Amino acid sequence: MACHLRLILLVLSIPFVAALWPIPRGLSNGTTPLKLSSSFDIQASFKNVPSDLQDAIQRTKSHLKTDTFERLVVGRGSVDAQAIAHANSLKTLVLSLNHGAAVRPIAVEVNTVAIDARDESYSLSIPSHSAQATLVANSTLGLFRGLTTFDTMWYHNGGDKYILNAPVTITDSPAFPYRGFSFDTARNFYPVSDIKRTLDAMSWVKLSVMYWHIADSQSFPLQVKAFPELAAKGAYSNDEFYSESDVKDINQYANERGIDIVMELDSPGHTTAIGMAHPEHVACINKSPWTKYANEPPAGQLRIAVNATVEFSKTLFQSVIDLLTGTMMSSGGDEVNLPCWNEDEETIQALAQSNTTIGQALSSFVQEVQGVMAKNGKMPFIKSDMVLTHNVPVINGTGIVVWQSYADAVKVAQRGLRFIHQPSDYFYLDCGAGDWTGNNILGNSWCDPFKTWQRAYSFDPYANLTADQYSLVLGGQMPIWSEQSSLENLDPIVWPRLAAGAEVFWTGATLPDGEPRLGVNATNGVNAFARINELRFRLVDRGVKAIALQPKWCALRPGLCDADS
Ligand SMILES: *[C@@H]1O[C@H](CO)[C@@H](O)[C@H](O)[C@H]1NC(C)=O
Ligand SMILES: *[C@@H]1O[C@H](CO)[C@@H](O)[C@H](O)[C@H]1NC(C)=O
Ligand SMILES: *[C@@H]1O[C@H](CO)[C@@H](O)[C@H](O)[C@H]1NC(C)=O
Ligand SMILES: *[C@@H]1O[C@H](CO)[C@@H](O)[C@H](O)[C@H]1NC(C)=O
Ligand SMILES: *[C@@H]1O[C@H](CO)[C@@H](O)[C@H](O)[C@H]1NC(C)=O
Ligand SMILES: *[C@@H]1O[C@H](CO)[C@@H](O)[C@H](O)[C@H]1NC(C)=O
Ligand SMILES: *[C@@H]1O[C@H](CO)[C@@H](O)[C@H](O)[C@H]1NC(C)=O
Repeated sequence: MACHLRLILLVLSIPFVAALWPIPRGLSNGTTPLKLSSSFDIQASFKNVPSDLQDAIQRTKSHLKTDTFERLVVGRGSVDAQAIAHANSLKTLVLSLNHGAAVRPIAVEVNTVAIDARDESYSLSIPSHSAQATLVANSTLGLFRGLTTFDTMWYHNGGDKYILNAPVTITDSPAFPYRGFSFDTARNFYPVSDIKRTLDAMSWVKLSVMYWHIADSQSFPLQVKAFPELAAKGAYSNDEFYSESDVKDINQYANERGIDIVMELDSPGHTTAIGMAHPEHVACINKSPWTKYANEPPAGQLRIAVNATVEFSKTLFQSVIDLLTGTMMSSGGDEVNLPCWNEDEETIQALAQSNTTIGQALSSFVQEVQGVMAKNGKMPFIKSDMVLTHNVPVINGTGIVVWQSYADAVKVAQRGLRFIHQPSDYFYLDCGAGDWTGNNILGNSWCDPFKTWQRAYSFDPYANLTADQYSLVLGGQMPIWSEQSSLENLDPIVWPRLAAGAEVFWTGATLPDGEPRLGVNATNGVNAFARINELRFRLVDRGVKAIALQPKWCALRPGLCDADS
């Protein structure tokens, strides 16, 4: 017995951090072990529980049965066997909504409420010595976020699910409403099942947006009612496109998991594939050398000065909008190429006829397509170079996707525009894989080096902004551009690095205790490294092929592989 007691004391004195990612913004805990009762159940205390919340409850109950993640210590779960044997059992988690809260599906909270008006807050209380835990929120979306916290905090050993730090009291809400992943499904195609697996994992780290870069110059894998020929001719094959029902299915699947879809129809650049069906709308199509006419092969972009092309584009946007729920959409707008238009006979003629410049035509094109979005109640997004390089005026309420570098965020803020952070110098998941253009053997990627999770994690969304500019930051997103990615490496290239951005935009400029993350002033990253290692093992346990961040030896011994250890 004395031996058992010593073991328990030893176990409890091992430094142990809450297993949560993103870390809640208000968290207190004790040091008492607690396990789930074999009859553990999750109940809602209100009537007419929406079916997507019921499904989320079922998924959590299922995870609590099937997860096999053991605590990351030498000896794993068996180390805690004694503590578990004597632990109190938790019998229920009861979900309730605050007085006056609407009982609506999670999907409706996500796809009808403006991004900055959603209530994702929740309070979760897990006692050490009574049978019932409680989760309270102002919306089903808030309940879903809290349920996700509960869903990802338990350790497995034998037949038990347990924690060591009851009671746990969490009061949580995100620092930023827009916490995204930008997904390029055009350079290479991803089956629906891979997108859904990604959405599941996104929901576990409380991301709120999938920004879907669905088409590009290389392929147009989207079935559009108004122009079915776009996918018929522009997709890589009859198996590599998203049908209208695929898009609706993905949209619904995402919304039920607290994730909104912002579809980006990148334009007027990055549109060569439209020319497979409609060459009359594309300037400099496949023109050589591509390096002169585009940032990537094949060259080609929409004939913005030609009225028929503007009309075509508006119809295209409207037809895609008809397919989508949600309150946001993007027209992209990055990397337009002036020589492409300057040498295009149709463009030259159209400009002469209307006595306008290409700059005026660009502004007018952007106003037209963004106007279609606004008319349909979608908050329009646009890439930052449209504003900073081409001085295109944006319509009221537009969100800017700041992508080239962090420094651009400061310039966008100076113009008083709202924006999301997507700086290539912190967040691009594809950087560092070498040049892919074929005859540049020793070439680097344009955004070298590889962005580590620590690099992304060190990001400060408020750096170099003045306090009165803070409200312009809607959040941010990490993108995967798919020139060198496909379903075969999707999980490893994205996970667990995407989780770094998820915590940055959940917690804000610092950790909840005011400490900088792994920024210039951080002395070590033990706490974050231990937690992201845990997340990585949990992802793998649930079938996401997230890569190892360290040798397992280090993951089992937090801190011992730090440079100063
Ligand atoms: C919370 O848990 C940690 C790790 O078990 C422990 O060090 C800390 O003392 C706990 N907090 C309280 C208030 O007991
Ligand atoms: C719910 O709304 C109230 C009133 O706005 C707020 O004080 C509270 O923090 C919100 N969240 C939760 C989980 O109660
Ligand atoms: C395109 O439309 C504009 C404005 O409606 C008009 O001024 C211009 O002449 C038209 N161009 C052609 C080629 O029809
Ligand atoms: C074309 O536009 C320019 C500048 O707006 C103006 O000075 C010029 O008179 C116009 N030409 C014609 C033929 O309308
Ligand atoms: C743009 O939006 C702002 C803030 O919502 C509002 O004050 C302003 O009147 C709007 N301007 C136009 C032209 O709609
Ligand atoms: C903020 O500005 C300083 C001075 O220009 C610069 O050195 C620093 O890199 C900037 N911070 C970020 C995050 O870009
Ligand atoms: C780092 O610490 C220095 C000295 O306290 C301070 O001036 C600076 O603002 C800090 N930088 C960040 C990013 O917190």
